[in-house]
Amino acid sequence: MGIIIIIVTVIAVVVIGSIVMIFIKKLRKAGLMIFGSLIIIFIVVWDLFFKPKQYEKTYLQNVSEWKGLNIRQYADSIVFYIGAIPGGTEIGDPLFSNNFNSVTPENALKMGPLFKGGSIGEYDFSSADKLVDQALAKNLRVRGHTLVWGKQSDMFKNPDLRKWLETFPKEERTMQLKELTDSHIVTVLNHFRGRIKTWDCVNEPTSFIKKGEIEHNVYSEYLGENYIAEAFILAHSVDSSLKLFLNEQITNYNDKQADSFAELVRNLKNSNVPINGVGIQSHILTKTDTAIIDHQNYIKIFTDMGLEVEITELDIRLRIFDAAKDPYDAQGRYYSRLIEACIANPLCKGVTFWGFSDDKCWIDNYPFPKPNEPYFFDPEMKPKPAFYEVYKTLKYSFESRTRK
Ligand code: G3I
Repeated sequence: MGIIIIIVTVIAVVVIGSIVMIFIKKLRKAGLMIFGSLIIIFIVVWDLFFKPKQYEKTYLQNVSEWKGLNIRQYADSIVFYIGAIPGGTEIGDPLFSNNFNSVTPENALKMGPLFKGGSIGEYDFSSADKLVDQALAKNLRVRGHTLVWGKQSDMFKNPDLRKWLETFPKEERTMQLKELTDSHIVTVLNHFRGRIKTWDCVNEPTSFIKKGEIEHNVYSEYLGENYIAEAFILAHSVDSSLKLFLNEQITNYNDKQADSFAELVRNLKNSNVPINGVGIQSHILTKTDTAIIDHQNYIKIFTDMGLEVEITELDIRLRIFDAAKDPYDAQGRYYSRLIEACIANPLCKGVTFWGFSDDKCWIDNYPFPKPNEPYFFDPEMKPKPAFYEVYKTLKYSFESRTRK
């Protein structure tokens, strides 16, 4: 990320510099040449790397065969969670409940959406309750996402805890945030007691920018880095039957962020903090993202500590497979191999996709070259190779276990 900031800054300086040169008579010719060259470079780079592409939807010939298949039967049989966020569909839709046995509400259980009108103070659980009860009616496991998340306040201002804290005298702010955070954890866990048994207790605690460090956020600033352990200890004291996860997005399993996250978990475990599992989000967005074997080895770091692991927010952008003869097939095979790697580890308990169909994809809000199209179903709800390959993987896993 740091290198991207440097590149963007250099480009901006050169562009602005060439424009300034154009307005200086003596430098006009040079300025026009530099600016013209930049325009040509921009067009070439755009065409090569960023221009949206469309791939032949070869899978359409198989839709009639794949349409009636049901992944969930095999996932249930091998006691493996295969989940998704509702992603704009109804959890009650058979296409969801026949293929998934777990659901993570994308936003409904975050702090901001649980407050009435998004403002701190009074809770409104109505929309979250509707989602959770719909899921339970279909016997789906609900992953609670998430109790404590610094970026949600700092980056998304949802809620803006810093702004709220500034309404208090400086000397009171730490106490106010501690009271709010503890009260939030107790209130939410008591409200969903018996209905949500697995929670992302803390989300994204390590820094993606300053790799190797704990993320500097409103919680670490006012409560110290121990806010993480304290959240787990309090949550466990409210309901010791809960499975409490620490959830993180790791893009490269061999870099300092990956190491710092593993060290954080190890320290929590060694300090007898009641952590039960680790969520590895697995948003695989760029070609440089790590290979399957790195993913598998990273999962093993935590299962060797005796912790459960879930892949909690999986999406793999289609554009990553641009060089493949059939990108849709290549994407499907990659999903299959990744899920095989998880199933192969008895403590890797499940995989959740951070989307259901390609028409509702959070990545489309960011400037990644399209197509993203990371999920099981296309915008017309037609099953893609990603669906069929995962179906085959779970069916094979079920059959190989029943053959023993
Ligand atoms: O609901 C409001 C709407 O009323 C308002 O008009 C609109 C415009 O501001 O905002 C809507 O809320 C948005 C919400 O998504 C629902 O669409 C929030 O602004 C927006 O910040 C929120 O983005 C979510 C993001 O987390 C931040 O909470 C994304 O949908 C969600 O996919 C994303 O998921 C995160 C995981 O929680 C953690 N891991 C990374 C992952 C992707 O960023």
